Amino acid sequence: LSIGLFLSQMFLLVLTEKQSSSNPPSAFPSSFLFGTASSAYQYEGAYLSDGKGLNNWDVYSHKPGNNIDDESNGDIAVDHYHKYLEDIDLMHSLGVNSYRFSISWARILPKGRFGEINEAGIEFYNNLIDALLVKDIKPLVTMTQFDFPQELEDRYGSWLSPQSQEDFAYFADICFKSFGDRVKYWVTFNEPDVQVRSGYRTGTFPPSRCSGPFGDCTDGDSEKEPFVAAHNIILAHIAAVHIYRTKYQETQGGSIGFVLHCDWYEPISNSIADMLAAERAQAFTINWFLEPIINGRYPLEMQNILGSILPDFSTVEKQKLNKALDFIGVNHYSSYYVRDCMFSECKPGTGTSKTEGYWAQSSQKNGIPIGEPIEQDGSSFYPQGMEKIVTYLKERYHNIPMIVTENGFADTKPNSTTEELIHDAARVKYLAGHLNALSTAIRKGADVRGYFVWSLLDDFEWINGYIFRFGLHHVDYKTLKRTPKSSATWYKKFISQHI
Ligand code: NOJ
Repeated sequence: LSIGLFLSQMFLLVLTEKQSSSNPPSAFPSSFLFGTASSAYQYEGAYLSDGKGLNNWDVYSHKPGNNIDDESNGDIAVDHYHKYLEDIDLMHSLGVNSYRFSISWARILPKGRFGEINEAGIEFYNNLIDALLVKDIKPLVTMTQFDFPQELEDRYGSWLSPQSQEDFAYFADICFKSFGDRVKYWVTFNEPDVQVRSGYRTGTFPPSRCSGPFGDCTDGDSEKEPFVAAHNIILAHIAAVHIYRTKYQETQGGSIGFVLHCDWYEPISNSIADMLAAERAQAFTINWFLEPIINGRYPLEMQNILGSILPDFSTVEKQKLNKALDFIGVNHYSSYYVRDCMFSECKPGTGTSKTEGYWAQSSQKNGIPIGEPIEQDGSSFYPQGMEKIVTYLKERYHNIPMIVTENGFADTKPNSTTEELIHDAARVKYLAGHLNALSTAIRKGADVRGYFVWSLLDDFEWINGYIFRFGLHHVDYKTLKRTPKSSATWYKKFISQHI
C-alpha cells in the first residue's frame, strides 16, 4: 500500500511540475501595478457639496445646447464622493493593487490662488487615500483630468494665459504637501492633446473655443490657441515637477509622470509619403508634449509645419525641460491607418479632408481604423496596437518607464438591456487581447510598470454623457447600484494568475 501511495504521489508531483513548466512565468514583474482608473468629474458628483467651487465642466454642462449627447452632466455622476468606500470594496474584490483617480482642483481650491484652501476637500482625499491603503491599494493620482476652476477661467481664460502655470504650480504644491506622504505615483496632466484640441479648436470641451480657419466652427480668436494652451500646460507641468523634485521627492520618495492619449498610427502604404505622414501624426499628438518635456524642444515635424505659430521656450525654460518626468503614462485605445495629405490630394472619404487644418497637414488620424470593427465609436479591435505603441515609445524615448494608465472598451448602444451589458464578452476579448500584447512588449524589453483598466464603473463619458459605458461594473443610473460584469470576474482571475 505504501509503495502504491508513494508512486501515486510521485506521479502527481511530476504532473504538477510538468504543468507549471508548460506555463511560462508571467511577463509582469512582481511589483507590477494592476488597477482601474477614474477621474473626479466623471465619478465624484457632489458638485456643490462641502465648499467645492464650480469648475469649467460644471458650467459648460449646464449651458443649454452643450455638446453632450444625452444633455447630461456630472452633478451626481456615480456619486463616488459618497460611495467611495463601497467602490474600494469592489476594487478589493477584484484584487487590484492600485487605483488611479484624479483630484477635483476646485474642490481643493474653489478660487485657485485667489482664495482659501477648502479643508473639506483635503479631508475627502485624505479619507479616500487612507481607505485605499488599508486595503493595500496604492493610489496613482492625476492632479487634473480636464477640469479647471471656473473662477480662474473667468479671471484670465484658463490655459491661454501664462497665469495658469502659477495657479497649477500652487495647486500641485498643496497636493504634494497634503498627500505626498502616502501617494507615490503622481500625474500632472491627462491627455492634454485631447484637451486643447477639443477646448480650443473643435469647441467640444470647455472653454469651447473654435480657433483657426479650419476648425469645425469659426468663432475662435486665433489659429494659435491650441498651441498656446499646450505651451502653458507644458510649462505648468515643468513647474510642478520642479517643485516636486526640489521640495518633496527626496523625502517622499515618489515619482511623477505625464499621461498622453496614445493611439497607434500606421502608414496605409509603404510609400515614403505615407510613412512620413504617420510620423507627423505621432508628432501632432504624443510627441507634441513628450519631445519638449524630455528633450527640450517641439518635434521637428511641428516646427516645419507651424513655423512661428509654435511658441518658443526661453533658455531658462529649456534647462528645466530636461527629462522632466519619471514615467510616461500611456492611454491606449485605438489604432488608425494614416494617409499622406500634405504632398498629395486626399479624395473625400479616403482620408483626412483639408478642413482638418494643421492636423490634416500632419495627416493624423484619418478615420480608417485598423482591425476588426467593434461596437465602439468608429473603433476596431487591434490589440497589436498596444505592443506597437509601447515599443515605439520605448525606442524613441530610451525606455523611460511607462505605465499604461488607461485601456478599455465602451458599450455604445443606448438601448441595450442590463442583461446584455453585464454579459460583456466583447470587453473581455478586448482586455485579454491588449494585456496579451502588452506582455509581449514587456518580454521584448519594454519597461512597463503598470496597467489600469478604464474603468472600474460605468460613468460620465464627457461628450457622450452616460451613453458610453466603459465599466467593469454596470451602474444603474436611477439607483446607482453597481453590478459586476463578466469582465470584472475575468479581470479578477487574470490578476490572481499574474500578481
Ligand atoms: C480618455 C480620458 O482620459 C478619460 O477621461 C475617458 O473617459 C476615457 N479616455 C475614455 O474615452
